[in-house]
Amino acid sequence: MREYTLNMIDGTEIPTFDLGGWRESDFPKTEKGIGSVLRHYRQVDSTNRVARVWASGSGVVSGEGKGIAPHGAVVLADHQTSGRGRQGRTWESSPGQNLLFTVILRATEPLLSDHVARGMLPLATSLAVASTLASYAGEDQVSLKWPNDVLLGGKKCSGILVEASVDEVFLIGIGLNVNESEFSDEVGAMATSLLLHSGRRVERRDVFKTLIDRLNHWIPKAFERGADEVRAAYVQKMAGVGSPITIHTHADSAPGILRGLNPDGGLLVEHNAAQKVYYSGEVSLTHASPD
Ligand code: BTN
Repeated sequence: MREYTLNMIDGTEIPTFDLGGWRESDFPKTEKGIGSVLRHYRQVDSTNRVARVWASGSGVVSGEGKGIAPHGAVVLADHQTSGRGRQGRTWESSPGQNLLFTVILRATEPLLSDHVARGMLPLATSLAVASTLASYAGEDQVSLKWPNDVLLGGKKCSGILVEASVDEVFLIGIGLNVNESEFSDEVGAMATSLLLHSGRRVERRDVFKTLIDRLNHWIPKAFERGADEVRAAYVQKMAGVGSPITIHTHADSAPGILRGLNPDGGLLVEHNAAQKVYYSGEVSLTHASPD
């Protein structure tokens, strides 16, 4: 297998990785939209990083990695050596057990520069994941934790990392625990997989097919004016609306009551009878644990 050094548009060198690893996949492709172009790697550092390079079209001098990813292209990996999570965290996944992929969205202006769409992308993605999990585990087992977590039986089964790239390109990274059978002590108490939840192994490619179908349903709705359908569906599945939560910023933490979402997808929280809106880059939230 060959290795290449990738040079980004600005000339910075980023670490080499094994570009020889992508292959024609036995995972299904769609006829159009998200998932019609698919690069399936055995191993990468992070599908979001590989997608960023492919989307820029600037990275590779020669070899299998060249070309510019079209809208809806997907980078899928069986294993990540440096899977990235939100807020600088890492994403754990045993080789070949789960879904790890990034969708490249390349829409024309002004769609992606619309701040409502930006705020709604993680929410629309969460709805697609939630609906996929519900088709295996039942609707009542699935809930959403703002902004990007999808819970199965109250434990995190999927994480979503939305990043901006060059030229109004957005990268939607999705990690979904399918057949994971054990987690590290650090995340084990809070995380689950379809296997751990239901006791049954599931074909990854079937889950992938369902999820890509649901993404093709929900992602376009994030770009509809106001994205009302996304917001309403999200609030309906959101865990803990009306209950006490704690909001954490870099500086401190504050208790409040979760009230839902405002029109651009920000989190509405009531503090001492006054409502405040929070955006996903700046805060995280924890739910009060039941007594
Ligand atoms: C989070 O919950 O913190 C977000 C986790 C996102 C993980 C996925 S796995 C596929 C894609 N590639 C990455 O490096 N991260 C995302």
